[in-house]
Parts: sequence; C-alpha cells; structure tokens
Amino acid sequence: MSELTLRPLTPVVGAEVSGLDLRCPLDEREADQLQSALLTYGVLFLRGQDITPAQQLAFARQMGEISIPPIQPHHDAYPEMLVLDQVSPVGEGADEWHSDNSFMQEPPLGSILKAVQLPSCGGDTCFASMYAAYEALSEPIRQLVDGLSAIHDITKPMQRAIAAGLLSADLAEVQKKNPPVVHPVVRTHPVTGKKGLYVNGNSTSEIVGLSARENELLLRFLIDHVRDPAFQCRFTWDLGSIAFWDNRAVQHYAVADYRERRVMHRVTLKGDRPY
Ligand code: OGA
Ligand code: MN
Repeated sequence: MSELTLRPLTPVVGAEVSGLDLRCPLDEREADQLQSALLTYGVLFLRGQDITPAQQLAFARQMGEISIPPIQPHHDAYPEMLVLDQVSPVGEGADEWHSDNSFMQEPPLGSILKAVQLPSCGGDTCFASMYAAYEALSEPIRQLVDGLSAIHDITKPMQRAIAAGLLSADLAEVQKKNPPVVHPVVRTHPVTGKKGLYVNGNSTSEIVGLSARENELLLRFLIDHVRDPAFQCRFTWDLGSIAFWDNRAVQHYAVADYRERRVMHRVTLKGDRPY
C-alpha cells in the first residue's frame, strides 16, 4: 500500500498530497486521512491524476454527498459535473475572492476541481484561509464582527457581469428563484469548531443593520482584508492536477491572466447552513 504524504504549501493554508491514485477507490484509512488533512489545510492538491469524469465522481462520493449547484454549465454525459470552459476569464466571476455559492441557504461543503485543458502559462488559482483572516483581526474588531450577519445575493456577481457586457439576464426573475440569504459574518466550522470570516467580494452585498456608509467602510474593509497574501497559497496547475477545497474554511480566486482555452471539471459537495 502506498503511503499518503502531505507537504504544506504555506503555514496557514494548502498542502500537496502524494501517494494516492484516484483511479481506484480509496481504502477507509486513506479516505479518513484525506478528510482530516482537508480540515487541517483547507485545500489539498493532488497532481498527476489521470482520471475520467466517472472516477472523479466516484472519488467525490467517497468524500461526501454530491450537489448540483444552480446556473452553471454541466457536462453532457455527467450532469453532476460542472464544466468551466474559459478563454477570456476577466470579469466572469471567479476572478474575485469568493466562497462558492454563498448565496445559497446551504452553500457547498467543498469542491473537487480537475484541470482538463490549460493555457500554456497562467490560470493559477489562489486560496485563502478564512481562519487566518479572522484571527488576524484585532480583538475589538473580532468582537464587533462576531455578532453581525450579512446578505449574500446571487445577483451581485451577475450585475457586474452585465455591466461588463458579459451576460444578459433578467435579474428580478433570478432573484425570485434564488432570494438573497443571510449568513453570519463569522461562521463556526461545523467540524473543527474554528471561527472563520464569511463575507466575500463576489456575493456579499451588505452587513445587516448597518447604514450604507457603515457598510461602505466595514464590508469593504473585510473584503479587502481577505486579500492579504499572508493568508494565501497559490497553485499552478498541471494537466490532471486536482484541488479539493473546504468551502467553509477557505476562499479562492482564479487568476484571470490568460487568453487561451482553459477547461476544468468540478464536482461540488453538499454543505450545511452556516452558523
Ligand atoms: C470554481 C472556481 C477556480 C478556477 O470552480 O468554483 O472558482 O481556477 N474555480 O477555475
Ligand atoms: Mn469558485
């Protein structure tokens, strides 16, 4: 049996995993080790995984329950698989720090993303620990944000995309189907019990109960705070690389610095309501 090894990318977030072959089902010990590594590092990277969509889905099923997020293009043969197929990614949504689908009542637990086609250079993905972001706040600001909640709105990124001429959509209709949701500004991870900052530049539209000017200051500050490289790691993909992130503990950012085709396959795991 091969031994699973972990190499941290930074002291706060991310580890590269070796010694696993995802073409075969993981045994119970490997699955447990991977789950616990995810909790420790927030995002795991596995290189050289030459797996089919069916194998990626089978791996995801070992890690949790698959969910199918709204409004994203799916794989023709595998509806549970999202396909990100981009050539000019600027403004398409992932080039802003975010936690996936925080506009849902029960946002995903995490995602398993695989590189299928890559530009010759560029297209890295950055990840940031929201534990580290929270812990870096001063005690008085932590006390302030601990008690706050914020609105997450699916139409916030869509408004930006429409303004950039990248999308046309009836926002009122979209909002009727996906009403804005309220989540705590600081969420407690259901497994680790640790507190992490839970507002993001993509979907968080306002902190509840604050005036517009207070929001302009405090929400903007928190969104900006997340961008500190001290909380981050950056992953350069190879074909067959996989990133598996804990969407409850990290945010991510897709660097939009390429103009060649980049295709990624993503399987999303069902999560819980943040508290
Ligand atoms: C995602 C995402 C980042 C990337 O799949 O949710 O943001 O680098 N992807 O493609
Ligand atoms: Mn994303």
